[in-house]
Amino acid sequence: MSEITRLDAVEILDSRARPTIAVECVTESGARGRAAGPSGASTGEHEAHELRDGDPDRYRGQGVRGAVANVHQRIAPAVRGMEVGDQEAIDRRLVELDGTEHKSNLGANAILAVSMAAAAAAAAEADRPLYRELGGPDATLLPVPQLNILNGGVHADNNVDVQEFMVVPVGVGSFADAVRAGAEVYGALEDALSERGLSTAVGDEGGFAPDLDSDEAALELLVEAIGAAGYHPGEEVAIALDVAASELYDGDVYRSLERGAGSVGSVGLIGVYERWCDAYPIVSIEDGLAEDDWEGWRALTGRLGERIRLVGDDLFVTSAERLKRGIERGAANAILVKPNQIGTVTETLRAIATAREAGYGQVISHRSGETEDTFIADLAVATDAGRIKTGAPARGERTAKYNRLLWIERELGEGARYAGSPAVERGGETR
Ligand code: PGA
Ligand code: ZN
Repeated sequence: MSEITRLDAVEILDSRARPTIAVECVTESGARGRAAGPSGASTGEHEAHELRDGDPDRYRGQGVRGAVANVHQRIAPAVRGMEVGDQEAIDRRLVELDGTEHKSNLGANAILAVSMAAAAAAAAEADRPLYRELGGPDATLLPVPQLNILNGGVHADNNVDVQEFMVVPVGVGSFADAVRAGAEVYGALEDALSERGLSTAVGDEGGFAPDLDSDEAALELLVEAIGAAGYHPGEEVAIALDVAASELYDGDVYRSLERGAGSVGSVGLIGVYERWCDAYPIVSIEDGLAEDDWEGWRALTGRLGERIRLVGDDLFVTSAERLKRGIERGAANAILVKPNQIGTVTETLRAIATAREAGYGQVISHRSGETEDTFIADLAVATDAGRIKTGAPARGERTAKYNRLLWIERELGEGARYAGSPAVERGGETR
């Protein structure tokens, strides 16, 4: 492995017309790796800090020229000369250089883009695909995709409260078949909406965003679309939700998911989930409760934890430390993994390893604001995570990840394995 000789950074656009940072890492031998960071909208309270300029005269205050300058002026001199393959040492240097708990000094956006670009440069240097560089020769498991085909919450302008209604092709034979199923159900949903005179405009992650009579009506539409596309709901294609309930919480009570019901406590929401799980083929609910409602999470896990996967996103923010707290308290049984919530590749891998040791599932995830960067596709294969969510089978920044996985499956050929239903089953082993 050779040394890092140069870092370059540039302010680019994400999928919501906001700036984000892209970094290029160059080594002594001339190998190059590039990466760009994503950005969330339903951001967790405990996430690492995203550094923005706040200058109202540029990009509505959203510019990242400060983060770009930090890469050039402060990070580059600190990592120059380091071995490009030594990801842990590079990430440790980045964390130490920043020196704050939430990476608010240099910006987690600047730090993560450097960390990912260094990993990409190491792969280029070794002339290996990134999933192999990060995961070794046994990295052959293709994740089950969770395709977000109906958007609500803060990702859409409609009246639906649940942020994401996803289809999960657990019962098909390959990743390519899963993408096909997702795309066919997406098309069937579009037809079903058109027939009813409902909007087929899309939300931030490419799913349709119609106004509906209730959130439950979205579940009925998904079941109908799965059937209309020729699949058996719950067999080939199941359903997953991301409620993003921190957005429904006002510090005491939740806005109910049943219209007209006003506010409810966590017990009320748990009751709704239980009814929905009885009536619909739901295999996973993410952020069913708010990020600091530990007692509620314990109750939710006690009630539904043996039946479905309960995924902590805002709850765990990809932090091994917060995850450990959850494991001790019996909160959730899976973690959502978003590298920019924590800020380096090494810390992301640590959160995944902590989850695996405790028997918690892992879902690798995009953000609502994305670029064409495909790092998370390789990360999912490298870590045997078993699941990935990266939006609808539509919009280039979403399909880039699915398409990258289609190439990886092709590249692995006979050696490729599809995670399938064990990835969503309680205690299901993906390794
Ligand atoms: P975000 O949404 O990227 O806006 O946070 C994705 C999610 O909540 O999983
Ligand atoms: Zn989420």
